[in-house]
Amino acid sequence: MRVTVDYNNMTSAVLGEKGISPKKLSSYRLRAAKAWKYVQENRGKDELYMGWTELPYNQDEIVADILATAKNIRAKFQNFVVLGIGGSALGPTMAFNALCHLHYNDLPRSKRRGPKFFVEDNVDPVRMHDLLDIIDPAKTCFNVISKSGATSETMTQYLIILDLLKKAGVDIQNNVIFTTDANKGNLKKISDEYGGIKSYVLPDGVGGRFSELCPVGLLPAAVCGINIKALLAGAEYMDRLCRTNRSMYKNPALMCAALQVIAMEEGKNIHVMMPYSDNLKYLSDWYCQLWAESLGKNVTLDGTPCNVGQTPVKALGVTDQHSQVQLYTEGPFDKVVTFLSLKKYAQTMPIPHGCENIPDVAFLGGHTMEELIQAENAATAFALTKAGRMNYTLWIPELNEFTLGQLLFLFELQTAYAGAMLNVNTFNQPGVEEGKKATFALLGKAGYEAKKKELDSNPANDPAYII
Ligand code: PA5
Repeated sequence: MRVTVDYNNMTSAVLGEKGISPKKLSSYRLRAAKAWKYVQENRGKDELYMGWTELPYNQDEIVADILATAKNIRAKFQNFVVLGIGGSALGPTMAFNALCHLHYNDLPRSKRRGPKFFVEDNVDPVRMHDLLDIIDPAKTCFNVISKSGATSETMTQYLIILDLLKKAGVDIQNNVIFTTDANKGNLKKISDEYGGIKSYVLPDGVGGRFSELCPVGLLPAAVCGINIKALLAGAEYMDRLCRTNRSMYKNPALMCAALQVIAMEEGKNIHVMMPYSDNLKYLSDWYCQLWAESLGKNVTLDGTPCNVGQTPVKALGVTDQHSQVQLYTEGPFDKVVTFLSLKKYAQTMPIPHGCENIPDVAFLGGHTMEELIQAENAATAFALTKAGRMNYTLWIPELNEFTLGQLLFLFELQTAYAGAMLNVNTFNQPGVEEGKKATFALLGKAGYEAKKKELDSNPANDPAYII
């Protein structure tokens, strides 16, 4: 049950001069092998934020604890709400959508066998208001996920919930779980003030966007009934495949990284992630953060100014065939499209015969929706290839915990390899931090007076440019 990469449609054998020749690919061999070595040598190093590489191997006790807690939550609560943003929210949303019923929250409790699930990853007041309209906080478990405990969005959500729980006379220890840093950060302080709130550790060497396979993602997943052991087993399977293969010709994550770096360096600065599966729609969101925040950098590891990165774009097959594919096929040659293609869907849906006198419709009868979506996936790959557009396919035998775990680890390794090939710090996000600081300053947080002055010194918007 292995995820495979078919990169035929990236090569000159298929795309002619618009593709990557064997010679060109081979010229990246050493650079790719060096990147592999860098990742290999720094595995597990917390100080480099590479602790995520060990998550498939070092969590037996944590997994046991999460399973026990999840069992309790599933029996006790009507709702489970994740409060978090960025890496703390995209992973839980992605796994829930990938592996649970697409209308999970609308199923009767007897079918869900667990609480309804929500991820509150914004500070849109309408969204918070509307959530509070449909949940009873007293019957809800809130998982506050924040490494720093200082992220304005997450802590705003927390303050609102705390106030509601207090007003309802609910003991917060009963309804709140933290996922945060082991020793530092505000959630740790809050927990201590209460004499201990159930908390899971977001390990030191695991940054937000690499955190799905630690308690950040594992607790919400287990609460939704997802088999987290199989998820980790899938990640381990992909890791073993990649860590033992220095050659990109045998290492799928390294090959994907090399192909993307070649494409980037040939001016293809847009990477479209296009799953042909509604279940994988939010995998694109998760991937976009991973790829964008990790590679979009303005300085190399040795301090040389640069501006690198590739803009990830999410698309959904077949929906976006009727929206974006026109651009991909005939617009600028600035994209690589990655298809996520299922060999087998979890459901099959026969298309009944009908409208026999209308050939445009009648031909569909007797097929299945699975055949149709797969045919449309193949047809889009064909159309892009015919137009000389680079594309490749990750083939997923079927979507389950084991294959999703493989995909997640493949993408995380691919990102780490690509960052090493580009010689940037894959694991920091100074551009995000700048925005966080500006928000603090605008809302009058102590210690950000200088930043506030900097913001205030910006000239006012010129009315000449406002129409
Ligand atoms: O990838 C990242 O590091 C970010 O997206 C963080 O996850 C996000 O900013 C939230 O940070 P924190 O966990 O400190 O609340």
